[in-house]
Amino acid sequence: MKTEQIVRTFVEYFEERGHRRITGSTLLPPADDPVLFTTSGMHPLTPHLEGRPHPLGRRLVNVQRCLRTTDLDEVGDATHLTVFEMLGTWSLGDYEGPVSLDWGYGLLTEGLGIDPGLLHATVHGGDDRTGPDTASLEFWQDRGVPVEPTVHDNWWSNGPTGPCGPDSEIFLWSGDTPPPPRATPTGDDRWVEVWNHVMMRHRRLADGSLVPLLQRNIDTGLGLERLASLLQGRSSVFDCDVFAPWRRLVPPLWPLEERSLRVVCDHLRSAVVVLGDGVRPANTGRGYVLRRLVRRVLTLLWRDDPTRCLGDLPPELIGHTLDRFGQDMEPYDVHRMLLEEERRFRRLLERGRRVLARPRFRGSLGEEDFRYLHDTHGLPRDLVTGLLHG
Ligand code: ALA
Repeated sequence: MKTEQIVRTFVEYFEERGHRRITGSTLLPPADDPVLFTTSGMHPLTPHLEGRPHPLGRRLVNVQRCLRTTDLDEVGDATHLTVFEMLGTWSLGDYEGPVSLDWGYGLLTEGLGIDPGLLHATVHGGDDRTGPDTASLEFWQDRGVPVEPTVHDNWWSNGPTGPCGPDSEIFLWSGDTPPPPRATPTGDDRWVEVWNHVMMRHRRLADGSLVPLLQRNIDTGLGLERLASLLQGRSSVFDCDVFAPWRRLVPPLWPLEERSLRVVCDHLRSAVVVLGDGVRPANTGRGYVLRRLVRRVLTLLWRDDPTRCLGDLPPELIGHTLDRFGQDMEPYDVHRMLLEEERRFRRLLERGRRVLARPRFRGSLGEEDFRYLHDTHGLPRDLVTGLLHG
């Protein structure tokens, strides 16, 4: 099943159950949101989760692009991406958790044809602030789906303060052999988390205490590329249809070992989307995230061959990505900005090598050296470390 078909099936399934589709937002969250980038479908809806009526009603569905930098070091494994798409559903003070889980289970098993024997769930087991989530636990037990209670893994929040709540996560088995009877999601990473159902009914205050939200909401998020790769029988997100053009065009251009290839494809695709949403390279904030993505790609490319150049990136890959995310920037402009950033990085590296060759920088560097290199020569600490150990 192609990604597009999964999206259609998902949206139609929830529209048939009274949900209205809302347009996904860009990667830039609303101005008062505590995060740099949208990391989950709920960000643009925060005011409505807190009680402001939504013009389209109490049941919503959408597809939201997200960017997570917390997972950056994990990119290259089978399941993590920097930019990914999240299919989301919301009950804004309407139905409760078991209804959401029932529809989730129904869509996965009947709508998408997944064998129920390949599902596992987790639920919140309770802690000193909230009791166990018995409604979700009983739901899964009734369906005969194995369920594991946890504490920290089953609590979802959007940053240190704001809406939050216990969640129930649905995992899909990715192993080549049937799941062993006692393998649970916390103990066996062949269980891949695909869908999180958050019972979002608390707000965490700055002092860490919880107060009830004005309404009891449900906020769910399903990782599209993860589900697509499993439904397509692929062993990693980099092998699902979304990455097919990257898989076809990048290796002949830049032969790389598998993990580096994945990081290069992920980071370049993410950089295109971030540029497409209007962010420009900078030394702080969102622009710095973008800069780090591009620099990490270049570091990997130049490790084997310093003549490699982002100018060789096929425009088709940029166009394919901008289309996928409905961004109307010209591929040529993205190409040009990537190339400018590459030139800037080359110049910075040259300067860095020249400065670090001075006798003062032989031996190990102290805090003051790092500060001087940064403030006087614009050389960030990670770049200096890379040059010294590279
Ligand atoms: N907001 C929840 C998540 O991102 C659904 O996992």
